[in-house]
Amino acid sequence: MSGKIETPSFDEFDEIHNPRAEETDFDRIVESAVSRRGFLNVMAVGTAGFLTSAAGLPSQARAAGRFGFKQIAANSLDAVTVPPGFSAYSVVSWGDPLWSDSPVFDWSVRGTAAQQERAFGDNNDGQTIFSFDGRTVLVINQEYTNRDIANAHRESKLAETDDDVLKGMLAHGVTVVELTQTGGKWGVVKDSPVNRRITPKTAMVLEGPAVGHDLMKTIADPQGKNCFGTWNNCANGSTPWGTYLACEENFNGYYRSSDPDIAITPGQKRYGIGVKDWGYAWAQIDDRFDIAKDPNESNRNGYVVEIDPTDAKSTPKKRTALGRFKHENAELVVNRDGRIVVYMGDDERGEFLYRYVSDGFYSVGGSTSDLLNMGKLYAAKFSNDGRGEWAELSPEATGMSAAEISIHTRIAGSAVGATTMDRPEWVAAHPTKAEVYVALTNNKNRGIKPNKGGDETPVGGPNPRKANKYGQVVRWMPDGGDHTAKGFDWNIFVLAGNPAVHNDLRAGSKNVNAGNMFNSPDGISFDDAGILWIQTDGDYKNKGDSAGQGNNQMLAADTETGEIRRFLVGPPACEITGLSFSPDRKTMFVGIQHPGEKGFKSHWPGGGDTVPRSGVVAVTRDDGGVIG
Ligand code: FEO
Ligand code: CA
Ligand code: CA
Ligand code: CA
Repeated sequence: MSGKIETPSFDEFDEIHNPRAEETDFDRIVESAVSRRGFLNVMAVGTAGFLTSAAGLPSQARAAGRFGFKQIAANSLDAVTVPPGFSAYSVVSWGDPLWSDSPVFDWSVRGTAAQQERAFGDNNDGQTIFSFDGRTVLVINQEYTNRDIANAHRESKLAETDDDVLKGMLAHGVTVVELTQTGGKWGVVKDSPVNRRITPKTAMVLEGPAVGHDLMKTIADPQGKNCFGTWNNCANGSTPWGTYLACEENFNGYYRSSDPDIAITPGQKRYGIGVKDWGYAWAQIDDRFDIAKDPNESNRNGYVVEIDPTDAKSTPKKRTALGRFKHENAELVVNRDGRIVVYMGDDERGEFLYRYVSDGFYSVGGSTSDLLNMGKLYAAKFSNDGRGEWAELSPEATGMSAAEISIHTRIAGSAVGATTMDRPEWVAAHPTKAEVYVALTNNKNRGIKPNKGGDETPVGGPNPRKANKYGQVVRWMPDGGDHTAKGFDWNIFVLAGNPAVHNDLRAGSKNVNAGNMFNSPDGISFDDAGILWIQTDGDYKNKGDSAGQGNNQMLAADTETGEIRRFLVGPPACEITGLSFSPDRKTMFVGIQHPGEKGFKSHWPGGGDTVPRSGVVAVTRDDGGVIG
């Protein structure tokens, strides 16, 4: 701005004293978004604008809002809070026994290996409710352990004895557990024939293009066909044929090297595998976690694992065709022609968004055995003009074999010039139209440094903020409503931010205000009614950049109007992750992960002076009505 303004208007005064230089960039994003083909189809409020704030909607539009609850305030309570007219209670938590002969957890030592093997695991994440044979069955990932909580009885706060290490290992994996209602409340059915703990020791088979490749062969498995276990299962997916998909995320943090001078290969480096583990110490009890002894074991993690919840003796299958990376979730869509499409994020700074398209077609009662084995993998390329395309990870495009593409998928993505993203977390597909959303949680390296493969991370397009602290949710509309199409239109549904602290791009988009603000969207899922639920895993210090945002939370978003309302707030230092519904949709099951981590004080859910425990809560309406 040039020249002196003698008697400035409020806006001019504000512009002088609170310059919003970056707003110009944001407005440009908004303007280009609203003019794009496809976008207007999803706007219910005419041309009032992309990212219109709820507060700015005409009152009749607000009255027509689809939320059946009153927004709750941000808070830092040691509790799960929900709106008036709703209640929340614990269903199952870390250490709860799954069988009547399970040894009771000794909380003074955070349990033993023998206790943990027969109990609900730690740090529950993605979850699905299945209904079969008259049973309601929860299948849920047990992502990891907080070493300082699991080993709080040790001065080092780390696993020291072999039993400490094994206890931690057995707290990982997946739990299958039948639930039932007693006196109107959901709880565990001990001794159900479907109850099962899947751990890092469970026998599994490898399936798809990587099977038998030299990179998959280990000392224990010279054929490269059979492996043991799954760990760091973050989010999830499910198939129309009734199976569960557990996604392996930070699998690298469990490996270390007994040879400190070992040469780390480019493949290991890209996935963060190195000489030190993250404190789990699994190599202390199992040589396969020592890369000096078995360099290929780590090529057998980082996949999507398919589990049949109906048969506790079934062998889980690692689906290598879906690629190897730090899988967040696996959002499966049956395309209108019957092909299976799976959208997947790779949660690391500057990594990619992926799509798998099956060669075969799904039909009810037809064979499904190869639908997740034979298909094509793609990585997303976003243009700044609101268009994008899926680049196929083919041998021709990457110079890699099909097996190498499925093992070193990140390197294949770099080869086709995929767009480096702000940590792709969950993907959620709208239940009734071809519109797909991805949570990009945050990325302190955006515009500052490249990803681990050396790919640049320029500011722009779906990643519009340098050193992005707050995250955003981006959506795309496949051309012609066809999930297998090469091209798509995209726009930003919400830029999270803090309008109470910042008045530049960090304030967020216009559908974020001081009343509903949040940071670091992570879990996102649509319910059957088409409401998008957003769960956060962010800065819970409630000061500085997160002042006024309280503990991590779950919000509901109306993707037609852009309105977002806070529905639930968790206890201190927790993350909210994992969402499913009872078959009658009268209960919502929500995951509370790592309350009281990093020394934050929490005694949730037990109260008193109990150990904080991850767990699942049931949320119901006091009038017994349907949720979601
Ligand atoms: Fe386990 Fe990316 O969250
Ligand atoms: Ca997550
Ligand atoms: Ca996260
Ligand atoms: Ca987590």
